[in-house]
Amino acid sequence: MANEKKKSGLRSVKWFGRNDIYGFIYRSWMKNKGIPHDQFDGRPVIGICNTWSELVPCNSHFRVIAQHVRDGVLEAGGFPLEFPVMSLGETLLRPTAMLYRNLVSMDVEESIRGNPLDGVVLLVGCDKTTPALLMGASSVDLPTVAVSGGPMLSGKYRGTDIGSGTNVWSMSEDLRAGKITQDEFHEAESCMHRSHGHCMTMGTASTMASMVEALGVGMPGNAAIPAVDARRYVLAREAGRRAVEMVREKLTLSKVLTREAFENAIRVNAAIGGSTNAVIHLIAIARRIGIDLKLEDWDKQGRGIHTLVNLMPNGKYLMEDFYYAGGLPAVIRELGRNGKLNKDALTINGKSIWQNNKDAPCYNRDVIHSFDKPFKKNTGIAVLRGNLCPDGAIIKPSAATPALMKHTGRAVVFEDIEDFHTRIDDPKLDIDANCVMVLKNCGPRGYPGMAEVGNMPLPPRLLKKGITDMVRISDARMSGTAYGTVVLHVAPEAAAGGTLALVQNGDMVELDVANRKLQLLVTDEELAKRRKKWKAPKPPLTRGYWKLYNDHVLQANEGADLDFLVGKSGSLVPRDNH
Ligand code: FES
Repeated sequence: MANEKKKSGLRSVKWFGRNDIYGFIYRSWMKNKGIPHDQFDGRPVIGICNTWSELVPCNSHFRVIAQHVRDGVLEAGGFPLEFPVMSLGETLLRPTAMLYRNLVSMDVEESIRGNPLDGVVLLVGCDKTTPALLMGASSVDLPTVAVSGGPMLSGKYRGTDIGSGTNVWSMSEDLRAGKITQDEFHEAESCMHRSHGHCMTMGTASTMASMVEALGVGMPGNAAIPAVDARRYVLAREAGRRAVEMVREKLTLSKVLTREAFENAIRVNAAIGGSTNAVIHLIAIARRIGIDLKLEDWDKQGRGIHTLVNLMPNGKYLMEDFYYAGGLPAVIRELGRNGKLNKDALTINGKSIWQNNKDAPCYNRDVIHSFDKPFKKNTGIAVLRGNLCPDGAIIKPSAATPALMKHTGRAVVFEDIEDFHTRIDDPKLDIDANCVMVLKNCGPRGYPGMAEVGNMPLPPRLLKKGITDMVRISDARMSGTAYGTVVLHVAPEAAAGGTLALVQNGDMVELDVANRKLQLLVTDEELAKRRKKWKAPKPPLTRGYWKLYNDHVLQANEGADLDFLVGKSGSLVPRDNH
């Protein structure tokens, strides 16, 4: 028996398959929760990595999802063991959940490697939980399935649909412009988020759930099934079963997360009008698993891809509508039929992405457009270069105003987010609709954590005149639910001494998206003079995780991971003398 267990090659047998003192310890303590002896017979042990937390409302139903995963693992003859990791919520966690994405990825990596797990199911939902868990799991590379918690039901306010984030931005602008009352604003709070689940616009959470499906690391249908729909539980159960089978098939994460899979995900991101945050997260995940995904891959793979999905913030529908219209499979099918899919990319269910999606139906062409009649044309993320962003910057054309995509304007500079908040509402602020708003020191190191403040609210004076968009440039990120002609992720960031740090009020800035150009129209000599006077800002905290982060965080174009976390260590436990 012991030999047979050893032959299975399972990691967990090194813990549970022993007959010495250690075997006693490993099994005996587990038995305190009622596990019978025969469960230690060499069956695959599947970790259920749970990001449930009451501090993360988007993931607050994950205990129920975990139960369904557990049932699936048991049905397939596996041994489920649920474990918690730090969770990250966008709404409460300060200064920004992104600061902790890499910390959580370490928690996940070490929790998986250090324990007797043969495979793992990752429960992901609110924005950063998805990349954090995929990054950590990639560095171990066991058979891995991701299960997203699913989007909330559509928000309903006075007879209209309202979407997470997107309508928060627009209603907040309406309140500032005096178009709605404070009471109406409060009423909308209760109407927007009325079920379990994550943001139901095509924001970062929905984008990353779509990336899970497009990468092939989640079950087909993962992106859009509402959190409260019973089919979400069926998917969770199937994922549990599948994780057990994947262990038996030795289908590790690196066999799924290939370059072809990442290229598919980039194209799907363009087709769904997905969040700019996916750029940073996918680069970080790819570099963990050993694929050198670059910023330019986004531009190259996204070119010629159209937005097919008419969802907020780019369009009018919400994730619930998306699911009823056919969901992501209908989008993937359109890409495949038009030569925009690496069809052979393997997915976690053992089939290729094309096998999974080639017959996917579409039930509503107003929600999911065909490739021939897209919702918006040529909308892949554009990567900009120029003296203002020698290591790149990005813009999301599907969320921008076409007339501003080629624009030269006078810079109105905000030195940091505090400076912005102090001055933006000042009626004397010297700004007009042709100006370019420039925000510094909000990058990975500068904020720290690269806050989602790139879509700076416009000055109330201009809002009242009916101005709805202006060119905005920063080293920050933007919420996936936001929109506008917003240049983001400028690298190197201001706090790292990038040219952005040298921009002054009155400088002219040229944006030319068609030619992928972002240029500060100031001479090199003048910039050199300014650089001599520049001093790096002091980090706000110099101890604990903040120090580790500040000392090691990479720039946005490298995924903003910590430099020592790039790559993987695999599943072997070093110094394991047991
Ligand atoms: Fe959690 Fe939007 S706040 S997904």
